[in-house]
Amino acid sequence: MHSQKLKLGFLASHGGSNMQAVIDNVKKGVLNAELCLVISNNSESGAIAKAKAAGVPCMHISDETHIDPELAIIEQMQSSGVEILVLAGYMKYLSKRIIAAFNGKILNIHPSLLPKYGGKGMYGMNVHKAVLKAGEKFSGATIHLVDIEYDHGRILMQSKVAVKEGDTPETLAERVLQSEHKLYTECLKAISEGTIVI
Ligand code: GRF
Repeated sequence: MHSQKLKLGFLASHGGSNMQAVIDNVKKGVLNAELCLVISNNSESGAIAKAKAAGVPCMHISDETHIDPELAIIEQMQSSGVEILVLAGYMKYLSKRIIAAFNGKILNIHPSLLPKYGGKGMYGMNVHKAVLKAGEKFSGATIHLVDIEYDHGRILMQSKVAVKEGDTPETLAERVLQSEHKLYTECLKAISEGTIVI
């Protein structure tokens, strides 16, 4: 199938395992994309270490390094040729200025079946604890476009994962994360092949 080469930039705050999964699939030729730049607000993050190890250009930009970090992110991403911003565990709020700068082409991954268990305060283990407390039979992950409300933009793709008896927030989180690692590549591939239009 004909595919368009995606020009990707990543924003990540923590481990960066979702970013790593995409990098691996680009290197394997599974996904047609250029890995333009990784920016983290955390200089000690796994994401920075993983980008360096993979030879992907990376930078630390935060309110310690810049008066207006978001503006710096826009400038650096644009001068690196980024067309799609991929949020992979990025913990900072993005304003409408950056959404406009990328024509709304900003993707986020969230570890629940949105619109359930999203919104302010719903991140990390808080999500999985709430899913278990509610007695849900299924959870999963969602890739959506970013708008000015947390976890709110158009849903592009979801993966469904069974909740098992005896699950703890940690075991459920691990199962959901494994599904996330496949989902980002699948979604980006669909964008590159034109079956999802953003
Ligand atoms: C993932 O669970 C993702 O859904 C959420 O943050 C976590 C990031 O994990 N937005 P990693 O940094 O990609 O390992």
